[in-house]
Amino acid sequence: MKYSLEHAKKTYHLWGRHPLWYKIACTVTFLGQESKLRKLMVEKLELKQGDTVLDLACGTGLNFQFLENAVGSNGKIIAFDYSNEMLTAAKQRAKENNWDNIDFIQGDAAQLSLNTKIDGALSSLGISAIPQHKEALKKAVDALKNNRKISILDAQLPLGFWSIFNPLIAYVYKHWASWDYTKNIPEDLRQLISNTKTKRYNGKTIYIAYGTKSAP
Ligand SMILES: C[S@@+](CC[C@H](N)C(=O)[O-])C[C@H]1O[C@@H](n2cnc3c(N)ncnc32)[C@H](O)[C@@H]1O
Repeated sequence: MKYSLEHAKKTYHLWGRHPLWYKIACTVTFLGQESKLRKLMVEKLELKQGDTVLDLACGTGLNFQFLENAVGSNGKIIAFDYSNEMLTAAKQRAKENNWDNIDFIQGDAAQLSLNTKIDGALSSLGISAIPQHKEALKKAVDALKNNRKISILDAQLPLGFWSIFNPLIAYVYKHWASWDYTKNIPEDLRQLISNTKTKRYNGKTIYIAYGTKSAP
């Protein structure tokens, strides 16, 4: 079930070279509710103008417009991803929109090391694709200032009637998105942040798990 970093690299090499296809795949994954759900995930962070926020496994930068609205041009986005091709597409998006307050970092999220403390951290459809996802979550929480928030959006297999399609969905997303649906990401986040809450959307196929880092 678990895919290697090499698999993620190969998979996203392809998507990064075809950002329009990737966008279409996202529209399908979010069942047409993409903007609404990305915006909700960002709202959970309660960011202020001037804040610094981490977009972990940022992909082609589909969260940027919501993050830019939240932190403003005097704030900063740290866009972190393993795939050079996804980052190239993200940089192109930033250039086209004149967003010059984004720092792009290539690396493995499990080895994340930032030279600044951050005011918020999020990841959308990223943690499920990161092979060592627990380490990545821990590093993101470590980088967060006390009393600030982390918000994780991810997908899960449908329940009820639609679960008849689960073998197909699991196969497609495993092979084409390095998706590991067996991870219990809300629980893994709760191990780090005990006040984690989880809200589910789109017939429970998308969830947002979020919480506040408490002072020790
Ligand atoms: C499904 S995409 C999500 C992209 C973006 N967050 C979004 O919402 O569209 C998964 C992303 O995780 C990245 N990724 C996978 N493993 C990673 C790792 N170990 N460290 C950093 N990024 C990783 C991939 O390169 C890819 O861009």
